[in-house]
Amino acid sequence: MSKILILYYSQSGQLTEIVKNFAKPFGKSDNYSVTYANIEPVKEYGFPWKGYEFFDAFAESVNRIPCEIKPLNLGDEDFDLIVFAYTAWYMSPSIPSNSFLLSDQAKRIFKDKPVITLLGVRNMWVVAQEYVKEKIADLGGNLVGNIVLRDRAENLTGIITISYFLFSGKKDRFLGFFPKPGISNTDIAGVEKYGEIVKNHLINNNLDSLQEDLIKAKAVKINPYLSTTEQMAYKRVFTKWTKFILKKGGPGNPDRKTRVRIFACYFPFAILVIAPIEYVFFLIFAPFRLKSIKKEIKYLSGVKLKSNI
Ligand SMILES: Cc1cc2nc3c(=O)[nH]c(=O)nc-3n(C[C@H](O)[C@H](O)[C@H](O)COP(=O)(O)O)c2cc1C
Repeated sequence: MSKILILYYSQSGQLTEIVKNFAKPFGKSDNYSVTYANIEPVKEYGFPWKGYEFFDAFAESVNRIPCEIKPLNLGDEDFDLIVFAYTAWYMSPSIPSNSFLLSDQAKRIFKDKPVITLLGVRNMWVVAQEYVKEKIADLGGNLVGNIVLRDRAENLTGIITISYFLFSGKKDRFLGFFPKPGISNTDIAGVEKYGEIVKNHLINNNLDSLQEDLIKAKAVKINPYLSTTEQMAYKRVFTKWTKFILKKGGPGNPDRKTRVRIFACYFPFAILVIAPIEYVFFLIFAPFRLKSIKKEIKYLSGVKLKSNI
């Protein structure tokens, strides 16, 4: 019997639904057992979010500073496949998910095991995934597959609808005419087909070629404009704001309130003004960068680390 462990942290239940649909093919046979392990922070992040708390989570997300989490009740059980399902917060794995990656328990669980990452995000995830790839390698795990479910709305529309979702907790149409926020029900239901592909590779003992088949089945799609913008914004903007905020202390520290509030004012400006300008520059220079864009798409769709290629 193959034993599969699915690690996840979800606030609204969107990622939980994704995980459950992904695992459906394994439930249809006695040859598999699936263990769900819900990562739980000791101090919960409230959902729906309040404005200040949402922006206060920025510095720790970007700087990958862990929070305290409850130990998972897994004893010393051994698994044949680990599915690490996570969401992105500020281009990083969510703080609770990252806290698990940095825990001692992760060292034992990931060591020498094949790992699949399963993401339920808006549309900016490549920086988070590069970091997660490195962490999995540090833990001794072997990343064999990556599946990304994302919001298919156009970037600015997606920002409006996900903000409505995160601050109201409602997954309906904002003002009655915007598209529904987050990942569509069709995509969430459709993740089962990726579970089927993983199952076939597990049966045939050829997980090393899993990602090729996942890519063919469109489990990952790279948008070169978004991945370029994201990588630039993380390196040049996010890390600088993080330093600025952290100089005034850790989460909940009243001394940093003013800096968090200044960041909260800057954030919509960056999205509404800077990002569209970058888009125009991207379009102008794209024809001269076709070769490097193609190379980047291939790399980011894969599961290998740059240092191992
Ligand atoms: C604080 C915060 C920051 C987020 N930042 C990003 C991001 O940088 N990129 C992205 O694609 N999605 C981002 N999201 C959306 C999440 O990845 C996720 O899709 C959403 O929160 C629903 O997840 P849930 O299953 O935990 O409810 C963010 C969400 C939160 C709460």
